[in-house]
Amino acid sequence: MNKEEAKIKIRKLSEEIEKHNYNYYVLSNPVISDYDFDLLLDELIDLEQKFPDLIEPDSPTQRVGGEITKEFKQVTHKYPMLSLSNTYSEEEVRDFEKRIKKIIGHKVEYVCELKYDGVAICLIYKNGLLTQAITRGDGVQGDDVIANVKTIRSIPIKLHGDFPDEFEIRGEIYYPHNGFKKLNDERIEIGEDPFANPRNAASGTLKMQDSAEVAKRPLDCILYYLLGDKLPNKTHYNNLQDAKRWGFKISKNIAICKNLEEIFEFINDWNEGRKKLPFDIDGVVIKVNSIAEQEKLGSTAKSPRWAIAYKYKAERALTKLLSIDYQVGRTGAVTPVANLKPILLAGTIVKRASLHNADIIAQLDVRIGDMVYVEKGGEIIPKIVGVDISKRPESAVKVKFIKNCPECGTKLVRKEGEAIFYCPNELDCPPQIKGKLEHFISRKAMNIDSLGEGKIEMLYDNNLVLNIADLYDLKYEQLFGLKKIFPETENKKERKVSFKDKTVKNILNGIETSKQVPFERVLYALGIRYVGETVAKKLAYFHKNIDNIKKATFDDLVNIDEIGEKIAEAVINYFKNKKYLETIERLKNKGIQFEISKETTAVKNNKLDNKSFVVSGVFKDFSRDEIKKLIEDYGGRNVSSVSSKTDFILAGENMGPGKFKKAQELNIPIISEDEFIEMVKK
Ligand code: IVH
Repeated sequence: MNKEEAKIKIRKLSEEIEKHNYNYYVLSNPVISDYDFDLLLDELIDLEQKFPDLIEPDSPTQRVGGEITKEFKQVTHKYPMLSLSNTYSEEEVRDFEKRIKKIIGHKVEYVCELKYDGVAICLIYKNGLLTQAITRGDGVQGDDVIANVKTIRSIPIKLHGDFPDEFEIRGEIYYPHNGFKKLNDERIEIGEDPFANPRNAASGTLKMQDSAEVAKRPLDCILYYLLGDKLPNKTHYNNLQDAKRWGFKISKNIAICKNLEEIFEFINDWNEGRKKLPFDIDGVVIKVNSIAEQEKLGSTAKSPRWAIAYKYKAERALTKLLSIDYQVGRTGAVTPVANLKPILLAGTIVKRASLHNADIIAQLDVRIGDMVYVEKGGEIIPKIVGVDISKRPESAVKVKFIKNCPECGTKLVRKEGEAIFYCPNELDCPPQIKGKLEHFISRKAMNIDSLGEGKIEMLYDNNLVLNIADLYDLKYEQLFGLKKIFPETENKKERKVSFKDKTVKNILNGIETSKQVPFERVLYALGIRYVGETVAKKLAYFHKNIDNIKKATFDDLVNIDEIGEKIAEAVINYFKNKKYLETIERLKNKGIQFEISKETTAVKNNKLDNKSFVVSGVFKDFSRDEIKKLIEDYGGRNVSSVSSKTDFILAGENMGPGKFKKAQELNIPIISEDEFIEMVKK
């Protein structure tokens, strides 16, 4: 194929792939299988590899990210990004309609839409190409986050149809519920704080520096507002319908309403309907449909006069704050929990609610005995959002946040800039010990499924297991006949447990079998802060056994791909602790695997001779993960940051400028994908 033919084919393939992206991500209606889709993408990747100068910025191969942005460029909005005036009452919606009728001189047509609870984004298209993606910022200036936005598959990079040469389209980037849960589960597992809600997750993701990381997260985007000098229609509704034809994801949950009754019907329907949506909304937006009328109405400094947001009230109740408990979690984090006079809220009786942290308690100036407002919002756990000071009894007592751990008495600590207090006594504080034990036996760790939370508690309460190594000393006689009555809790009935012959044998068998669990999972099971499954695997594969990890210096650790400074520090601290070292010795003596198995270490081929590689940018033939795997398969090592110890930089398109500079300073050879393939083929 000559270059001219390749150019035509690349264009055709790109368009076809983007059409399938559109069917899948925008219409939720794929027309080909994933396999056939991958074939098309492979064909495109193949051609782009042969003719690298034909790679277009709008190529679907560019959606995997790879560009690193250290600081986002600040951009001034062409049209300021205003906000909407909010209302919570039907009365105010009636006033809004009356006001508009008065200014326009007659009744007008409205469009009702959902109010998406995410992060506002302004996309700028020139000649059908996405050129900028700007956050709201302060409304006047925002950040251009285009590298991250390009990874969102439902946002078209190139438009089709009859679009204006230049226009802006605004919408909301959001984190869908199912992806949000997965993200938080993963964060909790590695000891990171979970995001409080999907909106924070969306906003945090959009601000990440590595777009390849953003590409792994399932952000989505719905567009709801077009701006420009040459928009195709006289109404907002028709503009959105055209935008749908150009390739944008436009909501189908939108209605033209001719009067207040129709507006209220939309509002009421969605008050129920929103509970079934796979993302969060917090209200309904009512907009004047005619653009000429919108212009006539104009805007105040803060918000347009032609639109209003009706916000759904989070269900809220007023009740008495009886006392505050302090709970200590697995990582030692202390959470204040309010005990309330039981009250019905959104269909369930609420007795307890979160009080967040010490700062919020001070901000709310909440006192024991106060009447407090409890709300059930997007989050599942009810929270205290305010105090009715007019109902404050004279006897109300100011809350003094505890200074010592309620479980073990140790003085609590708070890191600079953080709101949460921690109990630092990780080795002797009961909930932290039990948490470590529960983690140790969990499925992805040692998988001792004959034990569970309740049984661990029994072993702990009876002083039989105070440390993970104690599990391997357990004897039949110690366990047989052990009893406990678990009292009724909010979600569980009373339970009586007694260890009989079969239970005991099961427990001992499970413990014995766990001695075969491979080293990488044992390492994860130890519960080192920030060492999740993936990090444990990397440490195990790279250092091969526990003694090497123990000896590793900070530099040795950060030299491993995806291991950053925070993780390295946590690993070093762990191995500084004598008690942990003792535990490891005991576990070793019991036959737990502390060395990688022979099969795992066998490399396919040792052509790369243990050389270290920093991979940067986007590749034509392989995804970044694939290329990293190739390096490992051929006996090389992946490291994440460039240092004097690095042997090669393997650079794709859009290599990070920081890495490039450092490589040049340190005189480290930069090789291309093709040169790398030659190396392993040799
Ligand atoms: S229209 C001038 N439509 O609400 C206002 N905004 O408080 C143009 N929002 O910043 C925005 N859903 O982030 C509009 N269907 C919708 C919306 C919506 C959510 C957000 C948007 C805006 C904020 C205003």
